[in-house]
Amino acid sequence: MNKKEILEIDKKYIWHPFTQQSDYEDYDPPVIVRGKNQFLYDVNGHKYYDTIASWWTSTIGHCNSKINKGIIKQLKLLDHVNFSGFTHPYAVELTREVVSLMPPGLSRVFFSDNGSTAVEAALKISFQYYKNKGIQGKTAFVKFKNAYHGDTIGAVSVGGIEGIHDVFNELQFKSYITEAPVCYQCRYRKSSYTFDAENTGCSFECFASIEKTIQENHEKIAAVIIEPLLQAAGKMSVYPKEYLQKLRCLTEKFNVLLIFDEVATGFGRVGTFFAMERACVTPDIITVSKGLTGGYLPLALTVCQESLYQSFHGMYNEGKTFLHGHSYTANPICCAAAIANLKEMRRLQLPQSKCSTIDYFQMKIRDFQQYDFIGDIRYIGLVGAVDIVKSRKSRHKFDDKERTGFKIYKESLKNNIVLRSLGDTVYWFLPFSMSIKDIDIIMERTLKSIRAVISDE
Ligand SMILES: Cc1ncc(COP(=O)(O)O)c(C=O)c1O
Repeated sequence: MNKKEILEIDKKYIWHPFTQQSDYEDYDPPVIVRGKNQFLYDVNGHKYYDTIASWWTSTIGHCNSKINKGIIKQLKLLDHVNFSGFTHPYAVELTREVVSLMPPGLSRVFFSDNGSTAVEAALKISFQYYKNKGIQGKTAFVKFKNAYHGDTIGAVSVGGIEGIHDVFNELQFKSYITEAPVCYQCRYRKSSYTFDAENTGCSFECFASIEKTIQENHEKIAAVIIEPLLQAAGKMSVYPKEYLQKLRCLTEKFNVLLIFDEVATGFGRVGTFFAMERACVTPDIITVSKGLTGGYLPLALTVCQESLYQSFHGMYNEGKTFLHGHSYTANPICCAAAIANLKEMRRLQLPQSKCSTIDYFQMKIRDFQQYDFIGDIRYIGLVGAVDIVKSRKSRHKFDDKERTGFKIYKESLKNNIVLRSLGDTVYWFLPFSMSIKDIDIIMERTLKSIRAVISDE
C-alpha cells in the first residue's frame, strides 16, 4: 500500500487511542514503517527521534538485535498455551529474573498483558485479601489527584486527572481522593526543581491530606495506590522519596496495603531499576508493564508479598482462589522478549552506566530556565518536562483553547522529533539508546519547535 491508501483506509476505519479524530481530518499523521534504536522512520524515509520512547515503552531501543533473536527463537518453540493448568519455562525464567530484581518478600508474580490489567489485578487482590483473612469492611481505595493508572474501569476509579477520569464518574467504585505531592507547583512554596526535600526545607505539609484520610477511614480502606516518585501522565510531576517513606510507615501503622504502580517508572526510567529502589521502600504490591518487554510486546506483572499471597492459599471450596485471568496470560513470545530485554539491560548495566547521560540531560533541561516562555520544569532519570507559558515573569499561561502543546507537537514532527505534549507541558521520556550528542540535537530541535509556535501566537 502506498501512503495515500494507508491514510485513506486509516481515516475511514480506524479509531485511534486518546485522539480527537477531527484533529486529523486536514492533517496527516506520520506513517511509521520502521524503527531502529532511538529512531522511527516514516514511509517517506524521514527519521524521527523517538523522544517519548513510544509511549514510555522502549528501553534499549527499537528492533534491538538481541530482543529480535529472543523472539525468533521462541517462535520456533511455542506461540501460546493457556496459563491455568499449564506452565512453561519461558514464564518461569522471566519470573526468576524479575524476582531477583525485587526486594526480599516481593516474590509472588501474577501475569497479565498491559499496565491497566496489572493495576486491575492489584486492586482485586487487595480487595480479596481482606475478605480471605475474614476482615470485613475494607473495600475502598485511596487515590491521588493527578494520578493515572490506566483506562479500564478499576484503573479509572483510582485515577485523578480532570478531563480524563471525571467523564466516567458514575461508573467508578468508591475511592478516597487525596492531595498529591506536586512539588513543581508546591502550594506551600517549599520545593524547587532539584527535588531535594532536605535542602528545600520541605516539611511535607502536603502529607497531611493522606494522613487524615487514612486516620479517619482506615477501617474501610483496602489499599493506597500511588505512582512512586513520578506521576507520569499527570504532567510528569516528580516528588521526593521521603513522601513514600512516610506513606509506608502510615500504611503499616493502619493495616492498609500499599500498591506501587511502576508501569511507567520501572525498568530504569528514574535512574534506578525501580522507583521503589530509589525510595528505599518496599510496597505490598508492585505493578509493571511498558518497559518490561523493552517496548516490543504487551506483557505485565503484578508482584505481591508472599505473605499476602498466602491468604489466597487453601482448599478450593474455601473460596479463597483468585478467580481472575486473561486469555494471553504469560504469552511465551512476550516472555521471550522480556527475558531478552532484561538480559541486555543487565549486560549494559542499565541504568547505572547511563549516569553521565542522565546528568547531561538534566543540565540541558535546567538551561531552559533562561527563557521566559518556560514555566515550571522538573526531571528524574531520563524523564523531564517543561511547561510552556506566555510569560513566566508575568505568570501568564496560554489559554487551553489555544492548544499550544498540540501545535508544538505538530511542529516537532516537522523537526523530526516527537514532542507529544501533555496539555501545554512538553516532555521527554528517553530510551537508553540516546547519547549525549542525541540529547544536544533533541534539545535544539525542541527549542526550535517551541519558538516556531510561540512566535506565531
Ligand atoms: C503509571 C501507569 N499505570 C498504568 C498505565 C496503563 O498502562 P497501559 O496503557 O499499558 O494499560 C500507565 C500508562 O501510561 C501508567 O503510566
